[in-house]
Amino acid sequence: PRPRVWLSRPLFEDVTDRLDEHFDVLRTAVPEAGVYAPGQVASNLRDVDGALVTLVERIGATEIAGAARLRAVANVGVGYDNLDVPVLGSAGVLVTNTPDVLTETTADFGFALLMAAARRVTEAERWLREGQWQRWSFDTLLGADLHGSTLGILGMGRIGQGIARRALGFGMRVLYHNRSRLPEATERECRAEHVDFDALLANSDHLVLVLPYSPVTHHIIDAAALAKMKPTATLVNVARGGVVDELALADALANGRLAAAGLDVYEGEPRVRPELLALRNVVLAPHIASASRATRRAMVALAVDNLIAALGYGPRAGDPPTPVNADAVAGKITVKR
Ligand code: GLV
Ligand code: GLV
Repeated sequence: PRPRVWLSRPLFEDVTDRLDEHFDVLRTAVPEAGVYAPGQVASNLRDVDGALVTLVERIGATEIAGAARLRAVANVGVGYDNLDVPVLGSAGVLVTNTPDVLTETTADFGFALLMAAARRVTEAERWLREGQWQRWSFDTLLGADLHGSTLGILGMGRIGQGIARRALGFGMRVLYHNRSRLPEATERECRAEHVDFDALLANSDHLVLVLPYSPVTHHIIDAAALAKMKPTATLVNVARGGVVDELALADALANGRLAAAGLDVYEGEPRVRPELLALRNVVLAPHIASASRATRRAMVALAVDNLIAALGYGPRAGDPPTPVNADAVAGKITVKR
């Protein structure tokens, strides 16, 4: 019998239709709330060999408890904090993600949020649409310069490096903090200087968050961290909502302890805290940093390739392009053709 896979939501049909060449595909509709309840994820996983999911499908011990056949989960996204990878690995489930194909697009959007927040682009548009232009004065909507400023990057992976390379074109000085320092050649290429966390906070005119979410990075930007930043600074988050204490951020933005923020990610997506919605000095985007036409298709195509290969089919049978936990399931992939 053909393997069965769960496709958690409609993506690009002409891309996901390739799954039907090898598998019986269970297609489900996303509930009205925008996210599946844990019980719905569990029942969709119960009788399938693989799943292709997005970052709002959370899969851990509870969700796979009855999923005896499950062998592969292909995540559409580079981040995979929605998946309990150790639990999946010990159950023999291969996890894959979609790195690389979204690096430059996400770096572009990090810069878009940075410019919009620092130069108050969305606030200015709202002001104009509200009919306030006749109240214009010479100091209306003053923002912060990017050129000549210091950009801090927290989390210097592929996306962080993409942002650093863009910053060179703007004549910015680039500081970064990362668990491990980059090789010297990469530092030279990005002209980025490694500093400790406190120095990054204190010296950045603009700080961009691009680090993975984990228990270790949970609320790494909290009230204490925000207090170490310049009150004139801009904060941009294209990582995961959970790396920022949003109430502390809203408080700092409301009380002049931080100038502006640009957010693409939130704790509790698709809900956004009213404390953030109430502020003018924050640019809010609905998790679209990788959402260019070409890149979103490329992410789905990579996830489809991963799932087909992980279940032992296609030209890369047994050798999915971008596994996350290959070690945990080594030798367990059976090649079908
Ligand atoms: C999006 O947030 C991703 O992880 O790809
Ligand atoms: C993600 O791919 C990153 O390394 O930043």
